Amino acid sequence: THEWQMAALFGYLLGSIPFGLLLTKFFQAGDLRSIGSGNIGATNVLRTGRKGLAAATLLLDGGKGAVAVLLAGYWYASDAAIVAGMMAVIGHNFPMWLRFQGGKGVATTLGVLLAMSWPAGLVTCATWLLVAVTLRYSSLAALIAFAASPFYMYFLGDEHRAVLAALLCGLGFIRHQENIVRLRNGEEPKIGQKKE
Ligand code: G3P
Repeated sequence: THEWQMAALFGYLLGSIPFGLLLTKFFQAGDLRSIGSGNIGATNVLRTGRKGLAAATLLLDGGKGAVAVLLAGYWYASDAAIVAGMMAVIGHNFPMWLRFQGGKGVATTLGVLLAMSWPAGLVTCATWLLVAVTLRYSSLAALIAFAASPFYMYFLGDEHRAVLAALLCGLGFIRHQENIVRLRNGEEPKIGQKKE
């Protein structure tokens, strides 16, 4: 329907704002594309050594996902909010401004899930944090949190939201191909470690 199309367009455009790139450019923190993994996300911003910018990237990339869901839910129906959330992550991962070469969608997915069902989102964030703090791999934390999120969403949210979480999980795994290879080869850098 018309509402879904508007929600999709709005979600995509909001999601496609590459806060990590914008912040590191503006504050002259270096060229994200030639640092670490080359990714535009908070984990790679941290590799510039600018913790504040990394935290801001995490919050803004997460926030745009949450805002996409909340505003679409406010304007349209709840299923349109799900479409907006999905499209926000797609916008982050494939922004037209960067020739569709975007990020991996971890922060944005967390923001979307929080806005979809705060209990399920919170438990997903807690899972990410627990793995990140204990094992010190940002990508592994994301993969485990992604894999758990459809179950959290099923029990703490509802079926539609669980399907969204499963789709976001699938997309997240696809975007972490290189990380998965590095993790398997024992070559993945730990959080805050600058060299690969
Ligand atoms: O935020 C994405 C994270 O899971 C991995 O990022 O830069 O280590 O590939 P990166």
